[in-house]
Amino acid sequence: MASKPNRGIIERMFARKSIAQVQRETQTSELKRSLGKWNLLLLGVGCIIGAGIFVRTGSAAALHAGPAVLLSFVVAGIVCAFAGLCYAELSSTLPVSGSAYTYGYTTLGEFVAWIMGALLLLEYGLAASVVAVGWGGYVVSLLADFGIVIPPQFTGPTGYTLMKDGAPVLIDGQTVTTIFNLPAFLICIALAALLVVGVSESAKVNNAIVAIKVSVLTAFIVVGGLIVLSNFGELAAKNWVPFIPENQGDGEFGVSGIIRAASIVFFAYIGFEAVSTAGQEAKDPAKDMPFGIIGSLVVCTVIYMLVAAIMTLLVPYDTLNVPDPVAVVVDNFGPQWGWLAKIIKVGAIIGLTSVVLVLMYAQTRIFYTMARDGLLPKVFSRVNKRFHTPAVNTVVVGLVTATAAGFFDINVLGDMTSVGTLAAFAIVCLSVIYLRRAAPELPRGFKVPLYPVLPVLGILSCLYLITSVPVNVLMFFVYYMIGGVALYFVYGIHNSNLQHGDPQDDAPDMGEFPGPVIDE
Ligand code: ALA
Repeated sequence: MASKPNRGIIERMFARKSIAQVQRETQTSELKRSLGKWNLLLLGVGCIIGAGIFVRTGSAAALHAGPAVLLSFVVAGIVCAFAGLCYAELSSTLPVSGSAYTYGYTTLGEFVAWIMGALLLLEYGLAASVVAVGWGGYVVSLLADFGIVIPPQFTGPTGYTLMKDGAPVLIDGQTVTTIFNLPAFLICIALAALLVVGVSESAKVNNAIVAIKVSVLTAFIVVGGLIVLSNFGELAAKNWVPFIPENQGDGEFGVSGIIRAASIVFFAYIGFEAVSTAGQEAKDPAKDMPFGIIGSLVVCTVIYMLVAAIMTLLVPYDTLNVPDPVAVVVDNFGPQWGWLAKIIKVGAIIGLTSVVLVLMYAQTRIFYTMARDGLLPKVFSRVNKRFHTPAVNTVVVGLVTATAAGFFDINVLGDMTSVGTLAAFAIVCLSVIYLRRAAPELPRGFKVPLYPVLPVLGILSCLYLITSVPVNVLMFFVYYMIGGVALYFVYGIHNSNLQHGDPQDDAPDMGEFPGPVIDE
């Protein structure tokens, strides 16, 4: 229902798009129900695996949980399962293709949709920066194997002391302070350029990259597992005792450390919503969606726990706070495995490149949709005549992600991403409750089991994980959201098409994540 301009401010903030309107706008002709349960599971695994396991697990173990990071993966996986089931219900109820932004607009109204847009900028835009920093870590490490050394000052965020094996790196007896992360900056710019000229992954390339990522981790698990099993008793006694290191302060080891690490490795699961948003394409949503979501979460949890177990068994956990922890552990397999370390680094680099590309793509499409709704300036929905892509939008996304990746610490960026995503998930769980009450008659292809317990647990568990993040990150998040809300009242509410009853601008529909990333 479109509201008129001179309605009360509260009514304007909660103006909702009708489902019919969203359908018209996204021009979703009947999507073919072609995805079976295994397709959905693979779609999830492909979107999920990235810098979370290849990079962030190292610092989660080294600084917060020790070997008990294995339990952190279970905690984060369960939180994601609650949210995933709620995503699945929304996507099978609202016949629109789209992200949580669109769900917000059709359920809780425009203001919540705007908030969702701000949160998704953290979930996709900032996550792209995190993965780019992870990419940089593996590239620097691989180049060093071939004797190519990037000046260390240009391999990290501004103002950090360069560390290796838990100690400062000394060059000519001096510690090195990093100035800028050049590789991470450059990969964001390069991928933005590719997106501007319209390069997106084809289904075949996407499948190949998923295969590479999974093979690399499988090789790590098989070889590392054999080495571990040949000497399990000694390794466990050396590196797994105690399994939960004694608490040293809030969020540092002990139980609070496990929860803190869960908020970090939560990053490793981001992307599973891609399964949930394919609700319109599932052959049998009632059965296939929970299988795809829970299945991909279980598969990734098992892979993550095995990788983390091998990492923490083979090297002392406090040496894992490095940009390329998986490679560092492979270096420990022994000199005869040097070739495997290089292959794993190459596999990680390819896998991480595709994750940055998909995340940046998703971010451009969210900005694009918001601009079509009038919530962002029209320039974000302008399509370049030559390349048929939202070029200005993509350049802005490229510059923002590159700047964040170039100047900021991966842990701060990762925490911001986790907080934003957890908040977005909590809103998705709330939307399910709202929609069950507001529109109980809507047919639902899939219903969250144990309603309302699971959505409520989803909200509470997301909020709980948010509270485990450091206060400075939470403060930054609060300022960010205050800025976002202010921008809504300064710009969004006055320009929204819905408020004016205007039709959408006539830019072509470009789809939303995970839409046309994968086009043959
Ligand atoms: N889950 C994705 C990753 O770990 C975002 O890179």
